[in-house]
Amino acid sequence: MRKKIVAGNWKMNGSLELVNNLLPRLVEVSEETQAQILVCPPAPYLTQAQALAGDKVAVGAQNCSEQASGAFTGEVSVSMLTELGMSHVLIGHSERRAIYSETDALVVAKVKAAVEAGLVAVLCVGETLEQREAGHTLGVVLGQIKVVLDELTVEQWSQLVVAYEPVWAIGTGKTATSAQAQDVHQAIRQQLAGYDVQQAEAVSILYGGSVKASNAGELFAQPDIDGALVGGASLVAEEFISICRQAD
Ligand code: 13P
Repeated sequence: MRKKIVAGNWKMNGSLELVNNLLPRLVEVSEETQAQILVCPPAPYLTQAQALAGDKVAVGAQNCSEQASGAFTGEVSVSMLTELGMSHVLIGHSERRAIYSETDALVVAKVKAAVEAGLVAVLCVGETLEQREAGHTLGVVLGQIKVVLDELTVEQWSQLVVAYEPVWAIGTGKTATSAQAQDVHQAIRQQLAGYDVQQAEAVSILYGGSVKASNAGELFAQPDIDGALVGGASLVAEEFISICRQAD
């Protein structure tokens, strides 16, 4: 059966002190839960996070280059991430799409590079408020996923996690209701089943957008919600630990 995953996306927040304080606590929590805990701190902290994470807590990057190496100032390659022991990388976060103009084509190239390097790609998708209000939620979300699925083999899905993050729910305090989230997650599962019925059941689909200790339980109770991608609350030890415990 598919894994429950609780992932923390620190974005451009945190400090070495937070890494040093939080990681040992997460290692303790990982002993008590079946869920996979994943921490994605900013790139300069990856090595230290990995050194403290042991083999139960996974560490991932927030981005990677689609290029293998070369004159790409400021970029980080997938082989550098694997060399450091990273297991996951977030790809296509709405902030990367909106602020850094990442296109679907670039997202596909990054997912392919990550998967081919042996990383798990956490593919982030989601609609804006305008798109939701225009009734385009499923069209947008399933479209963002289709371009990736069309370029992967079903065997490579073992290295794919989907994170549904409605843009209007990110950092706004407005969570999608568990029913709204489940509707989209179910549609994603059906989309996957259109490619392979059996393997569709094995892909973890995470929800992200203002997840906190107080709403995680209800979200996790939905049949197609397999965990969370947590932003702000992943920087607060008690909040994030509570979310991890609720994922079991
Ligand atoms: P918040 O949990 O702060 O809304 O952020 C969600 C997110 O973007 C995680 O990737």
